[in-house]
Amino acid sequence: MKEFSITTLVKECTVDELTAADRELVAAAREATRRSYAPYSKFHVGAAIRMADDTIVTGANQENAAYPSGICAERTAAFYASASHPGMAMKKIAIAAWTNHDKPSDLPWEEYFQAMPISPCGACRQALLEYETKYGNIEVILNGKDKTYIFPSVGSLLPFSFTEF
Ligand code: THU
Repeated sequence: MKEFSITTLVKECTVDELTAADRELVAAAREATRRSYAPYSKFHVGAAIRMADDTIVTGANQENAAYPSGICAERTAAFYASASHPGMAMKKIAIAAWTNHDKPSDLPWEEYFQAMPISPCGACRQALLEYETKYGNIEVILNGKDKTYIFPSVGSLLPFSFTEF
C-alpha cells in the first residue's frame, strides 16, 4: 500500500510584519467584528475580503434564536462580496475574532481579541473554495493578538475538497 502526506504551508508573523495593504485588511476584519450579531455565543467574528479592484468587502457573524440559521463572518463576507461584485475575483480574506465572555468587563476593546488566530469552519472553507476555483487564488490571513497566520490559498486549508459533480 502506498502512503503519501499532504503538507500545508503557513507563514507566521506579527501584524507589524504585514504589508500596509494587508494591515488595512486585518484592521477592516477587526472593525467588522463590531457589526457581529452574536447574542448567543458572544463570539464576535469579522472577515474582510480584498477584491480584485482593491475594494474591501466585510462581513460579521449573524446568529439567530434558531441556532443553525445563523451564519459565520466568512460566508457573510464572501456572499456579500459575490452579490455586490458578481464575477469579480477575491484576492485575500482576513479574519479576526474576540469575546468578552468570562473576561473582566473593563478591559480595552483590543484586549478581548483571541490571542491565537481562529480558523474558518469547514462550511466556510467549502463556500470560499468555490469562488477560488472559479475566479482565482484567495490568500487567507488569520489574525490573532499574538500571532497572524497566512495561508497561500483556501484550497490549502481544505485538501481533498469536493469541487464538482
Ligand atoms: N464563527 C464565525 O463567524 N467564523 C468562524 O470561523 C468560526 C465561528 C461564528 C459562528 C457563531 O456565530 C460563533 O462564531 C460561535 O461559533
